[in-house]
Amino acid sequence: MREKIIVALDVDTEQEAFALVAILGDYVGAFKVGLQLYSNVGSGMVKKLVDTGAKVFLDLKFHDIPNTTARAAEAVVGLGAFMFNVHAAGGKKMMADTAVAAKKRAEELGIATPLLLGVTVLTSMSAEELRGELGVSRSLEEQVGSLARLCLDAGLDGVVASAREIPWIRATCGNNFLIVTPGIRPAWAAGNDQSRIATPKEALQLGADYLVVGRPLTASAHPKEAAKRLLSELEG
Ligand code: C5P
Repeated sequence: MREKIIVALDVDTEQEAFALVAILGDYVGAFKVGLQLYSNVGSGMVKKLVDTGAKVFLDLKFHDIPNTTARAAEAVVGLGAFMFNVHAAGGKKMMADTAVAAKKRAEELGIATPLLLGVTVLTSMSAEELRGELGVSRSLEEQVGSLARLCLDAGLDGVVASAREIPWIRATCGNNFLIVTPGIRPAWAAGNDQSRIATPKEALQLGADYLVVGRPLTASAHPKEAAKRLLSELEG
């Protein structure tokens, strides 16, 4: 079960990140380096983490012209991440070119191709924001289902989405498509800025392949105890 847990290392410094890795390493399967840590310390951190034997999900959510995201993907492969992602809103060609570039570079280096995920709709976004601010007239579930299908057609391995949309994603993409769910909030943790949340158990029962958990563990006064509690909830 611990292999399913990915901890979001949303901190500012290498020291804080490595401290969390040391505390949580025995209870989780992988660590996520996102924009906060990456912008503070740079790509060297990813390599260092990989060198310690950690699995790293590089969550930079690429969204740019296809050539730029494809070249960035080649760099990601060189860093040794086991998973990375793009925004599905970048379109099919952007996603497909990125997937092809990553596979080619991994073959050249003789390493496994990292899993490539598409971000459908951010878990912090509400249905009202999607409609009112982004002008998307279809329902949030339809939007997620349709973007997930675009990811599948572009050759991606899966999507990042809220646990609540898993049924729509399974309906459009089937069971052999990875679903990674942030917005995980155990009953004992604060919601923070997340909108479409689920408890770890709910996410698992709905069929999530991986759970991304940040502040419920990293902002806890007792991260190790929080991780043990999370794990026992999943196993219970
Ligand atoms: O602290 P919390 O558990 O809310 O952290 C969730 C993590 O997942 C953050 O690093 C956030 O950037 C990321 N994420 C998300 N929603 C997405 C994609 C990634 O919350 N759709």
